Amino acid sequence: AAAPFILKPTPPAYFTDFGTNAEMLWSSVDPKAYLTPQSRLFVRNHTRTPQITRAGYALRVYGDGLATSRAEGEALSLTLDDLQRLPHHEHTAVLECTGNGRRLFKDQQGQTVSGTAWTLGAVGTVRWTGVRLRDVLASIGLAPDAVSIEAAGLDDPFVSGGTDYGRVRRPFPVSKALDDAVLAWGMNGEDLLPDHGYPLRLVLPGWVGIASIKWLGSLEVSRSALTSPWNTTFYRMTGPEWPVDSPPLTVNPVRSAWELARDAVLPSRPVTLTGRSWSGAGRISRVSVSLDGGTSWRPAVLDRRSRQDEGWTRWSVRWGNPRPGHHEILARATDERGRTQPLEAVFNTQGYFFDAVVRHPVRVV
Ligand code: MTE
Repeated sequence: AAAPFILKPTPPAYFTDFGTNAEMLWSSVDPKAYLTPQSRLFVRNHTRTPQITRAGYALRVYGDGLATSRAEGEALSLTLDDLQRLPHHEHTAVLECTGNGRRLFKDQQGQTVSGTAWTLGAVGTVRWTGVRLRDVLASIGLAPDAVSIEAAGLDDPFVSGGTDYGRVRRPFPVSKALDDAVLAWGMNGEDLLPDHGYPLRLVLPGWVGIASIKWLGSLEVSRSALTSPWNTTFYRMTGPEWPVDSPPLTVNPVRSAWELARDAVLPSRPVTLTGRSWSGAGRISRVSVSLDGGTSWRPAVLDRRSRQDEGWTRWSVRWGNPRPGHHEILARATDERGRTQPLEAVFNTQGYFFDAVVRHPVRVV
């Protein structure tokens, strides 16, 4: 059945600059729940949520990277029924916007950047249900020298500053498609909500959110590297210190958040604080926390058993003697590749990858 159209009934928070964007509030996270409920997951739209029915939906696949080359006008058309005949696949992963934490460039580093001013809520961990893209490509037939696939959404073309950039679309290497890419129709055991890509979206686990194209309309498979504004103009590092040909951003960095509002009020008695850390490149191996503004550090207790596939890692720390007053609490994670959150994020004009240790203000009364 077609899911009800458009915005979530209980948006956690809203602001619009362009498109429609909603951020998850960390204070709304249920410490006992590993997965982010679909209705609380952030929404990041370049334009707006399109209304698509299952019956009216088909995925078009074309390009010279298919075993039998097909022009766009002769695209193969796959319905959801066609796709659902392939083996079903479940995968739990973090979904995170490249610009998560962008507001902190200003708040914490005094730097002005452009883009949606997320705090830290443009992230969640969900369980996807769908088919592996490699199974879809195997069933169609892939040319041995195919290198690039461009996924395009069915939402309206993106127009900004007088420029029409066309449909939201982004290419990615065939190697990622053959590794862990999923074409997903479900999230946490439910049909996708319209805002999250109903009826089908691409999921590239561990990669920047823009790579997971919603309302997936087409896949162009090519023998040459494809480009779109979403990997040339946007979603790459730009600014005085960056080369003009800096590569498109792919793997997400390491980040951490407390399950607390900024400026949360805590009682002056022993309390257990919880949070989550995640990385686009593997498991979290260590989290250090500071309850005194960064003067002293201690290890957080990791809940390694609850870690699923490429989801986040939960952790906790006991605060034995919170004294009345204002405090800054900090969490700093390291992933199994040895990547540790820096103390300062690298400036770039579009405010991507704010991965610095966040100085989280709280008040004890
Ligand atoms: N896909 C389409 N077609 N249009 C979009 O605007 N936004 C991208 C990506 N896929 C987008 C899209 C961005 S920037 C992010 S972070 C994720 O979708 C957000 O997914 P969500 O809204 O389900 O959380």
